[in-house]
Amino acid sequence: MAQISGTPDVPDMGRRQFMNLLTFGAVTGTALGALYPVVKYFIPVSSGGAGGGVTAKDALGNDVTAKNFLATHKPRERALAQGLKGDPTYIVVEDAETIASYGLNAVCTHLGCVVPWNASENKFICPCHGSQYNNEGKVVRGPAPLSLALVHADVNEDDKVVFTQWTETDFRTGEKPWWS
Ligand code: FES
Repeated sequence: MAQISGTPDVPDMGRRQFMNLLTFGAVTGTALGALYPVVKYFIPVSSGGAGGGVTAKDALGNDVTAKNFLATHKPRERALAQGLKGDPTYIVVEDAETIASYGLNAVCTHLGCVVPWNASENKFICPCHGSQYNNEGKVVRGPAPLSLALVHADVNEDDKVVFTQWTETDFRTGEKPWWS
């Protein structure tokens, strides 16, 4: 009898431990879930994240430095680099010594072709369906419905060109940015 009545105790213990484990898991899971936003708040935004900005990369994947870029590109030129989220993004040369404080996402707002810069026309002209954008990426001919998205372009203390999200008013249209 003792054996018979004792036998169910073994699975009972197992079940209790299992239940304890479940409770522990649920509690710690909830606690970690609640802590996540707090922890995330204190972790600096990674350099690879879209929110924190990225260093512009050239075609070989090297960081773009202002000195090299200005030495190899002419005033008023727009040249492609890899930008936020890996998007092709134009760095704009203002003059021999200045990179513009904005960059232009090269993805056409019609159906997503990469829009080449046409220096002789002083415009971006999409080869896919003929949309045109002026030298600041403002749409001047459809079918593209919207201007090219803006990003901030800054030169940091290491002379690297850094793109960050543009969330302010679009200076070309005076409107809120459609891309954020
Ligand atoms: Fe550029 Fe259609 S994708 S015009």
